[in-house]
Amino acid sequence: KRVAEFQEEFLGWYEQERRILPWRENQDPYRIWVSEIMLQQTRVETVIPYFLRFTEWFPSIQALAQAEEERLLKAWEGLGYYSRVRNMQKAAQQIVELHDGQMPNEIQKIQELKGIGPYTAGAIASIAFNLPEPAIDGNVMRVFSRLFEITDDIAKPSSRKVFEQAVRLLISPNKPSEFNQAIMDLGSGICTPTSPKCEKCPIQKYCLAYEKKEIEKYPVKSKK
Ligand code: ADE
Ligand code: SF4
Repeated sequence: KRVAEFQEEFLGWYEQERRILPWRENQDPYRIWVSEIMLQQTRVETVIPYFLRFTEWFPSIQALAQAEEERLLKAWEGLGYYSRVRNMQKAAQQIVELHDGQMPNEIQKIQELKGIGPYTAGAIASIAFNLPEPAIDGNVMRVFSRLFEITDDIAKPSSRKVFEQAVRLLISPNKPSEFNQAIMDLGSGICTPTSPKCEKCPIQKYCLAYEKKEIEKYPVKSKK
């Protein structure tokens, strides 16, 4: 019951406050995929113009699979990490060969594609196909570590399971797409690494770290 209440309030907040972003205009798996790869180490504001140009130049998985290398690298210039766009093209070719040019709608198959790890696969599965899969990145771990006072070290790969379990407890079974995007907006706009805006937070009354005034203790992160 408390979970249902949480979901209702949190998704209500997201409907009111959701950021308008070009990859949120529809649920095209290709556009979701491109956005998630670009967002992996680049801020939203920087990504927007790159995203618009990339999807104009290469509007579909087929177009990406067939793109000339020179133009592909040109489209990525300034984003860095060219291996990511090379892997995307290889994955696009895999999709054409193995899946008739359509992004598969099962998380295991998505994760078998070149360059797609657990986070990106979860993001595509949930946002594009509305499957109840967690998409765990640093932002999500920070929010959940505070919400549930999870003390597992977010720098350790083995902690992912713990956060996955936590997300599965709360993810809305009928609206996983909105739920995961709401967490992303919360993590980037409100539950930020330093001085989170708890006074504006839609889930403040559920947040254990806030209740105990221990926000500065979370997330737990070891030095590498
Ligand atoms: N960061 C990573 N994925 C995102 C998304 N889909 N929307 C906003 N911020 C994000
Ligand atoms: Fe994050 Fe503060 Fe909201 Fe807790 S109350 S989830 S610490 S912003």
